[in-house]
Amino acid sequence: MRPARRDAHPKSHGCVRAEFRVEADLPERLAHGVFVPGAAYSAWIRFSNGNGDATRPDIRGDARGMAIKLTGVPGEKLLPSERDATTQDFILISNPTFFADDPARYATLIERGTSKNPLVAASAPLALGWKGMMIARKMVAKKISSPLETRYWSTVPFSLGSGPDRQAVKYSARPCTPETAPIPTKPGPDYLREAMARTLAAGDACFDFLVQPRAGAWMSVEDSRIEWTELDAPFVKVATITIPRQVFSTPAQDAFGEHLSFTPWHALPEHRPLGGMNRVRRDVYEAVSALRHELNGAERREPSGDELFPSPLPPQRRQLP
Ligand code: HEM
Repeated sequence: MRPARRDAHPKSHGCVRAEFRVEADLPERLAHGVFVPGAAYSAWIRFSNGNGDATRPDIRGDARGMAIKLTGVPGEKLLPSERDATTQDFILISNPTFFADDPARYATLIERGTSKNPLVAASAPLALGWKGMMIARKMVAKKISSPLETRYWSTVPFSLGSGPDRQAVKYSARPCTPETAPIPTKPGPDYLREAMARTLAAGDACFDFLVQPRAGAWMSVEDSRIEWTELDAPFVKVATITIPRQVFSTPAQDAFGEHLSFTPWHALPEHRPLGGMNRVRRDVYEAVSALRHELNGAERREPSGDELFPSPLPPQRRQLP
């Protein structure tokens, strides 16, 4: 059935254009890959709900997604099929930990969860074990007032650097301003998109993009159910994401966002995904994106960053210096 949507995170609140500006005085140990001190990239960011049902009202608790795609990134990328792409993706959700520590558990969860037998479907969370179930419960209980006022984490780690001094890091994006908008008393089914539209019609939004270097052997690279606590492994700001004032909710821009493909493997070798979960994501994301595009009869191509969509607002500053 057209349009074929994403298997996970099918409901988009909007795909917005943004600027990702790296700190000018970045410590040398963090200056790898796209983190070139003072560099600026134009970016696309897709905000989403995690649940597989794209018609589910936003007021139901859920894991929210923030998928960031930097454009104009030079250098050979990790995916053999997209070596020459000029994009770097960072994929984040609204929880610091993930509920599955190994791909087999995740696969069982999806298999049982999509079963037509209600008893099998109801038993799906058991696949996660006690710890995973507790994380999933917390994750999907979360209600938010706006995707622009929510914090996001990568949950799984990535390499930073590719030489002998490379280190494992996690990422996070934190709104520059604390949550201010209340959850509406009578929220419409798509109130998160409406909140984003209101904020961005009035002015810019912004996030600090943070890197958390691993600070001890107990901080597991394989088990993303274990939180790397901030107290033990502080986050360091490496960039500012500015989402300029804009009207994003047009049919053309919505369609553009739906046809984007995000994967942690759209990456420079300096940002290589780590751990078993990430290894599985390499093939899964590529395969389901290829199928989705085929079913939709859409071209599958990484964006250049020069895409333009007519906006009723006057154009603002050009994103890159
Ligand atoms: C083995 C583990 C995982 C599997 C099999 C998996 C699977 C998927 C699939 C099939 C999609 C849809 C892709 C598309 O249609 O183009 C997706 C999207 C997504 N996943 Fe995962 N996922 C995994 C782990 C994670 C983790 C650890 C995170 C945490 C950040 C995450 C966050 C997201 C987000 C935010 C999206 C939406 C991206 C967008 O806006 O296009 N996933 N995932």
